[in-house]
Amino acid sequence: METPKRRSWAEPYRMKMVELLKMTTREERLKALQDAGYNTFLLHADDVYIDLLTDSGTNAMSDRQWSAFMTGDEAYAGSKSYYILEETIQTHYGYKYVVPTHQGRAAENLISQILIKKGDIVPGNMYFTTTRLHQELAGGTFVDIIIDEAHDPTNEHPFKGNVDLDKLDAVVRQYGAEKIPYVCVATNVNMAGGQPVSMANLKALREYTHKHGIRIIHDMTRVAENAYFIQQRENGYQDKSIKEIVLEICSYTDGATMSAKKDALVNIGGFLAINDWDIFEEARNLVVVYEGLHTYGGMAGRDMEAVAVGIAESMDEHHQRARVGQVEYLGNRMIEFGIPIVKPIGGHGIFIDAKAFLPHLKQDLFPAQTLAAEIYLDSGVRTMERGIVSAGRKPNGENYYPNLELVRFTVPRRVYTQAHMDVIAESTAEVFEKRDRIKGLKMVYEPKYLRFFQARFEPL
Ligand code: F0G
Repeated sequence: METPKRRSWAEPYRMKMVELLKMTTREERLKALQDAGYNTFLLHADDVYIDLLTDSGTNAMSDRQWSAFMTGDEAYAGSKSYYILEETIQTHYGYKYVVPTHQGRAAENLISQILIKKGDIVPGNMYFTTTRLHQELAGGTFVDIIIDEAHDPTNEHPFKGNVDLDKLDAVVRQYGAEKIPYVCVATNVNMAGGQPVSMANLKALREYTHKHGIRIIHDMTRVAENAYFIQQRENGYQDKSIKEIVLEICSYTDGATMSAKKDALVNIGGFLAINDWDIFEEARNLVVVYEGLHTYGGMAGRDMEAVAVGIAESMDEHHQRARVGQVEYLGNRMIEFGIPIVKPIGGHGIFIDAKAFLPHLKQDLFPAQTLAAEIYLDSGVRTMERGIVSAGRKPNGENYYPNLELVRFTVPRRVYTQAHMDVIAESTAEVFEKRDRIKGLKMVYEPKYLRFFQARFEPL
């Protein structure tokens, strides 16, 4: 017999406990969808078969994380678990000072309130919903400085998360560096489809911002996944470990907000990390108002323990290979079926280009929202809209019309199997075959902030 040309990879873990799922009929799903106002955020999770709503807080913890959970120190002040977390962050990310928060957006609130003044400009490599809102609530205006390629779902640039330095320079010339409290750089840009930033780009950005005295605040929510892509795609990094690459990424920035619910493999948690003592002092003052004392900041001691172990596990080469590999597997199955997805395949999920999937629907008919509803109806797979509904309205009330009108299939870490990926791709292919009869939705309730979470729709 011939030796196989290709060796499959498989997950570097096995299952010790399983969570049983409810199987539903199409009639049951239709009823659930109607009750949820055709918004997948409003479905009861119990009515979902494969939940790809988000990779946030949906990770499976390891046996080591669960053991660490039991050693959590629940002291109100000075918990041992805080010092373990602090040391882990210093070791793996290289930042000096740490303020824990209950999740990422709480850290965004702290840094926005501390650094942004009314009238300030905050350039960033594409917006993220909560990040931009906190910038706006603090009186700032977000300006997108991601490279143009990021807004084109078909462009195969290997680092679509990169900052366009000419765009940044234009912002600096127009407003002056003193109006820019920091540049916000996300590693693995969520809204662009889980696309990475290159190390060369980060280095160049550091050089530029140094010259102009501008800080870089790093949204490091998926930094280890970004590091994996750098290792795979960027010259000079093939032989570096994810751990080394992560440290180098962080070294080009002045501080970070983190949602530990992603990379760090937990269900809740986050932090603000910063190298500047004065900002740290301010953050310690503010966190007491919004979250809790500065040595727990909204997290239980056990959660801080689990985050610390999760951060170390996220640096494991085999883990990232399997994590990103599973997403790639799903993406390649979609491509085989001719389904239009954002390319290259991203780190945390597959993003379907709803404009290409449903070319007969105008953006005002919410093509991505509609498609997410149709996919749930077909198979009980829950996905999320990342298009015009998520983009929301400008401070002056006008709708944003984002170029990208996407449905996100976000893959939780260490949760689903390859067979689940097959079911997802096959169900989407079936909806794709019948796409001509899909008619769109109208919005019948719109909340004031972050409308995608609670908006309600009716079919046309
Ligand atoms: N930054 C990025 C890039 C994110 O993806 C998220 C959360 C946050 C910040 C906020 O963190 O949820 O802990 O408060 N993204 C989730 C998602 C909600 O589904 O993409 P959080």
